[in-house]
Amino acid sequence: MSVISVPQAFNEDDLYVDLRSIFGRSLFLKCEGFNFAGSVKLKAAAEMVEAAGRDGTLTPGSILVESSSGNLGVALSIVAASKGYRFVCVTDSRCNLSTRLLMEALGSEVHVITEPDATGGFLGARLDHVRALCASDDRYVWLNQYTNPGNWRAHYRTTAPAIAREFPQLDVLFVGAGTTGTLMGCARYFRQWHRPVRVVAVDTVGSVTFGGAPGPRMIPGLGMTIRPPLLDVSYVDEVVRVHEADAIRACHRLARRGFLFGGSTGTVVSGAMSWLAEHDAAELTAVAIAPDLGERYLETIYQTNWVEGIYGKDVLPHDFNVPDQAIHQTA
Ligand SMILES: Cc1ncc(COP(=O)(O)O)c(C=O)c1O
Repeated sequence: MSVISVPQAFNEDDLYVDLRSIFGRSLFLKCEGFNFAGSVKLKAAAEMVEAAGRDGTLTPGSILVESSSGNLGVALSIVAASKGYRFVCVTDSRCNLSTRLLMEALGSEVHVITEPDATGGFLGARLDHVRALCASDDRYVWLNQYTNPGNWRAHYRTTAPAIAREFPQLDVLFVGAGTTGTLMGCARYFRQWHRPVRVVAVDTVGSVTFGGAPGPRMIPGLGMTIRPPLLDVSYVDEVVRVHEADAIRACHRLARRGFLFGGSTGTVVSGAMSWLAEHDAAELTAVAIAPDLGERYLETIYQTNWVEGIYGKDVLPHDFNVPDQAIHQTA
């Protein structure tokens, strides 16, 4: 039995799906969506708020403010509500309606940026808005998930040791890259572990994180329009880039077997499967991280009209056996 008195105290850290029967290759998918925030970002949110409380950055009248495409916003809404802080989430028009409503239900204020910045993305415009709020009133505290070491430290302290406990023979770990908090926390932990682990970052085509050309991206969570400040590529062994259409196909293939995951999980699974197909991987112990679940994406990734409108008519084959087209790169 688990008994808790604050929502961030619960997180299912020991659940893995063996994907062999679905994709034909052994890959253990660590499910990070089973907590009250429904995503991996609860760990980063709790760690960053705790640290800011400890070092005196947060005081009883503080108002938290953060730029988030959704999941960190939900997680901070939960942590802020449980600790009695106000929270303003700055997001953009790609944020799902249900995610926005969820944050508002938890007592947060949501500011939606609708005009992209000069690069055509929203991140710069969102950050400008956060900076303007902070300049307008010194009660605002911006934890800044893009630079805050608590973001990666949460995974160094929890996610990576949880994987190490269950997989003492781990050979390869696949981690999707957004802010790179999950990636850097796990990569730093496994760099000093008792055996070498290949850490493979999975990114989206159209993201500039590992030096690719910028392009349109519709799946939230993974990919950046600027190089993530937390990223230190010396800890990353390889990078796999995945086309969003392949990520969508992986999501639908999982859903047809009863596992409804978010879009970034489809990206990570697609990238991992193509990496495993290209390497002599039969004997390898491989783990991938699934950042959230699929219910927040019912109106997008799981809507045929939305998918076909963006990726074309043929993106969802009936047999889900079309090989993926990931691009490999050494970090
Ligand atoms: C759905 C989803 N996947 C992946 C990520 C990437 O995690 P990180 O920011 O730790 O790189 C996020 C981050 O918000 C996310 O919301």
